Amino acid sequence: MADIDGTKQEKKDKEFFTQIPQESPGYFLKGSHQYDWGLKNRLSRVFNPKDGRTLMLAFDHGYFQGPTTGLERIDQTILPLEPYVDCLMLTRGLQRSVVPASTQKAIALRASGGTSMVSLMDEWESTGSEPGLRRPGYEPLSNESLACSIEDALRLNASVLAVQVFIGSQHERQTLENMTRLIDEANRYGIAVMGVVAVGRAMARTPQYFRLATRIMAELGCHLVKCYYTDEEFETVTSCCPVPIVIAGGKKLPELDALKMSYNALEQGASGVDMGRNIFQADSPIAMVQAVRAVVHEGAKPEEAYDLYQQLKG
Ligand code: R5P
Repeated sequence: MADIDGTKQEKKDKEFFTQIPQESPGYFLKGSHQYDWGLKNRLSRVFNPKDGRTLMLAFDHGYFQGPTTGLERIDQTILPLEPYVDCLMLTRGLQRSVVPASTQKAIALRASGGTSMVSLMDEWESTGSEPGLRRPGYEPLSNESLACSIEDALRLNASVLAVQVFIGSQHERQTLENMTRLIDEANRYGIAVMGVVAVGRAMARTPQYFRLATRIMAELGCHLVKCYYTDEEFETVTSCCPVPIVIAGGKKLPELDALKMSYNALEQGASGVDMGRNIFQADSPIAMVQAVRAVVHEGAKPEEAYDLYQQLKG
């Protein structure tokens, strides 16, 4: 049986070569040097060629949870943040209805969906126990389909298509198939696909899990991968993933902690952050987006970025 990372079946210590960057001759972005012109050009809009990093603003949460706190009115709370980011991660509904077509920012378009938070409530009702705990591996939200055609993605001038993958859930195969189908279609037109590691409640947020999930997605053809940061061994997650990793922000943290997380992830090999709640739910989103930008693109240490946050907030 194949080696399963982190189990007793490991016979030999793994060697991640975390101190040796993977080469990508002639192009600035990890694993992307052999792509065609159009795909490279789209990736150059998402990742700044000067430093190889990106600040993506994620506000696609409504695709399964409706008007999330901070996203009730995109025109009021999100559009003012647009000048400070490299890329907008959003749904096609928001893009067409609220985001000005004059934007110069790259678009990362949500391309999977089909379930909602209500399915968690149904699970609660039908089992009488906390959703997800009664049946390990059962994740109602994982029952996703593709939710956007390649033609519509082209009409919307997407640089990246984002697809959720639930490895370890009952819909692992289905969501991996969503991803590989999307990659086949996106490759025809030179659009990048970002596999998003969805961590269900039954799945542990460990380095072993993220190494496994991000590597599987990259091997199946994703051009970039989004996953959560882990306090331990994150450099091994980025090292053994042959394409760029961007981190999700996750639940709202105190601002300094979110800045530390971003800084540490970048120091340990992440190519950017794709952050939502830790920006738009901050006390001052406009100050926070500039503080995160300082960490991503200006080499600011977390404490320096936090000082900037306090100044701008004041
Ligand atoms: C959630 O499913 C969405 O895909 C978000 O884009 C993602 O979770 C990042 O947002 P946050 O930083 O709020 O976790």
